[in-house]
Amino acid sequence: MTMIATQQVTMQLLGGGQTVTILQDVTLEIPDKQTVAIVGPSGSGKSTLLGLIAGLDRPTSGSIWLDGREITQLGEKAMARLRLANVGYIFQSFHLIPTLTALENVSIPLELTGDSHARRRATELLQAVGLGHRISHYPVQLSGGEQQRVAVARAFACRPPILLADEPTGNLDSQTGQQVIQLIMALHRDAGTTLVLVTHDQQLAASMERVITLRDGRIGSDQLTSNDGNGSGGQI
Ligand SMILES: Nc1ncnc2c1ncn2[C@@H]1O[C@H](COP(=O)(O)OP(=O)(O)OP(=O)(O)O)[C@@H](O)[C@H]1O
Ligand SMILES: [Mg+2]
Repeated sequence: MTMIATQQVTMQLLGGGQTVTILQDVTLEIPDKQTVAIVGPSGSGKSTLLGLIAGLDRPTSGSIWLDGREITQLGEKAMARLRLANVGYIFQSFHLIPTLTALENVSIPLELTGDSHARRRATELLQAVGLGHRISHYPVQLSGGEQQRVAVARAFACRPPILLADEPTGNLDSQTGQQVIQLIMALHRDAGTTLVLVTHDQQLAASMERVITLRDGRIGSDQLTSNDGNGSGGQI
């Protein structure tokens, strides 16, 4: 079954009074549970593509489907609801809410879905990412790796079928980065999450089942690796 599909997605923006084409005719299908790396030079459109798949932005033209529903047809409210239920997003720069504790940050998506056990579930998630002793800490009181683990717990809170991660290890040292990746892969295995990860790390990309390379806003190559889907094929 296809979990993510894009059909001729094009994104143009105005920059310096000129129309700049950031993505052009990007068509792809990502099956349920697949692990995909998106790689390519800086400025090739990776973050833009991920943001469009997440419904954070709308393409200039083309269509995007998540789990069979065309998100490019949805209004803001319907889009927000669908995103909450289906998509976890991890940013390079963590994006935790600074005025909320770790526990509160992870509780938010659960509370938004009306989960009456939000706090308990958030506590369990923080324990699962090794931060049971840091639940009352504010982001500023946490290290970068700890903040990213809170962000991972938050992204998985509603058990989304899709996890999107934009350079999740980009701001971490290599050892902490590996811990975060191992955590993401463990949660992917347990929950059968479809995983799309943007990275500049060749080794990490090679540990996914599929590597898509963007060049100047187009798909330059799209290759399956020899990995079996539980993240054991690479060296991570
Ligand atoms: N709001 C915007 N207005 C104008 N141009 C933009 C805007 N956002 C992004 N761009 C341009 O679109 C191109 C693609 O940006 P994007 O952030 O998707 O690249 P990327 O592949 O994620 O790069 P990096 O590896 O550096 O994160 C870049 O040239 C960028 O300057
Ligand atoms: Mg980027």
